[in-house]
Amino acid sequence: MSDLVLAVDQGTSATKALLVGRDGNVVARASVKIGEAHPAPGWVEQSAEEIHRSVKDAIEACLNGHDVERVAAVGLSTQRESLVLWERASGTPLGPMLSWQDQRTEAECTRLRSEGVAEQVRAVSGLPLDPMFSALKARWLLDHYDPARTRSARGELRLGTVDSWLLGRCGAQHLIEVGNAARTQLLDVRARRWDPTLLDVFGVPIEVLPAIAPSQGPFPSAGGLHPALNEVPIAAVMGDSHAALFGHAGWRPGQVKATYGTGSSVMGLLPEGHAEVPGGMCLTIAWDAGTPAYALEGNIRATGATLMWLANFAGTTPAKLAELAATAQSDGVHIVPGFTGLGAPWWDGSATGLLSGLTLGTGVAQAARAAFESIAFQVEDVVATMNDVTTLLADGGPAANPVLMQLQADTSGRIVQCAESVDLSALGAAHLAGLTAGIWSWSDLEEMPRARRVYTPREAETSRRARLAAWHRALARSRYRME
Ligand code: G3P
Repeated sequence: MSDLVLAVDQGTSATKALLVGRDGNVVARASVKIGEAHPAPGWVEQSAEEIHRSVKDAIEACLNGHDVERVAAVGLSTQRESLVLWERASGTPLGPMLSWQDQRTEAECTRLRSEGVAEQVRAVSGLPLDPMFSALKARWLLDHYDPARTRSARGELRLGTVDSWLLGRCGAQHLIEVGNAARTQLLDVRARRWDPTLLDVFGVPIEVLPAIAPSQGPFPSAGGLHPALNEVPIAAVMGDSHAALFGHAGWRPGQVKATYGTGSSVMGLLPEGHAEVPGGMCLTIAWDAGTPAYALEGNIRATGATLMWLANFAGTTPAKLAELAATAQSDGVHIVPGFTGLGAPWWDGSATGLLSGLTLGTGVAQAARAAFESIAFQVEDVVATMNDVTTLLADGGPAANPVLMQLQADTSGRIVQCAESVDLSALGAAHLAGLTAGIWSWSDLEEMPRARRVYTPREAETSRRARLAAWHRALARSRYRME
């Protein structure tokens, strides 16, 4: 009897594997950490081979003691935008994988902006010109390993995101899932094909790029992820943030999810045929499960990272900060976490981190509260750009903190529904794979029990508005760089 779905969530800091039963419950779970290297300021690299190994190890640990015969399908969700270049014949990576966090292409990005191509890039790709997306990483990798593009033109090299890299270990075809492709900045997001003008702007020959596949495939079987899965099909592939929205069953416009992690992704589907994109937001393809589902997304660079920074700065731990923030007030202190500039909705690479409003009475407790408030303010700044948001769905590690979730409800003046599960991306990939394999229907998925904690706004509207206005004053200061 094949009644289990295996989900693999290949994320930035770890690879998780989950076995999900027909009733939607998680039967087994395993996680394998992966490292990253910082060889120069702003550079963030990972090893593509280590990523592949971590997938195998996580699957191995998850399947331990379970009958593989019962696994009907595999769903894969992956970190997005990170990019690998490898040799087609040997499958060997050329150089490191450049992480989505990598900022080494900032100067190149500035040069392109000064040439005035940013608007055109955004109009076609749906994304602002920024080092986070894959396109500038593609140029960097090719400039270093195939500067004349001769090997690329001969079809000897392959370029791909993590889904593409892992699928390449499973079959001969060079593939990328459409939602992941939408985050490369090389795709004409509306036409869903590689755009010749973008390829030209970023110096990427089409011969190195994968074929674009819908989120339900067809994909090869999962034997390249783990030999025990030779006979099991990969039935769904999704970007991790997209999979989290799917895991929430956030299939209707108005349902917006915020994933809280190192940074945050705020995302909600657009009504069909509606492609108006507010300034500062990305137009992306969440998934294609029969028809392409378009979404708006805002990426915030530092949310959980702010807590890590403050904990290091103050010589304490994020847990201790959470304890302090539960009872303290910020007393006029703001932290604007523009450590690597600001992402959505501002996209200001020149903004800096800012700690403001200090008095002689300011201590770590006020700063801790300000750090948590900065997370809620930033998420609300993105949500506020989206129309008719009926529900704010929360997930991710920091969302487990009830103080943060109540702050979010108060700051947003919206009800927040927080998933109890910390595995929303993996669950989303499992759900879509199970749908493809015929284990569940759409209505089964919709009705699947999802444990949620609900937070209702408690703050008066005048006070909420005053706090937001003070935050925006601090934010404006962080965008003024004194040279
Ligand atoms: O866009 C980057 C995102 O996909 C990475 O997610 O959860 O691995 O940090 P995560």
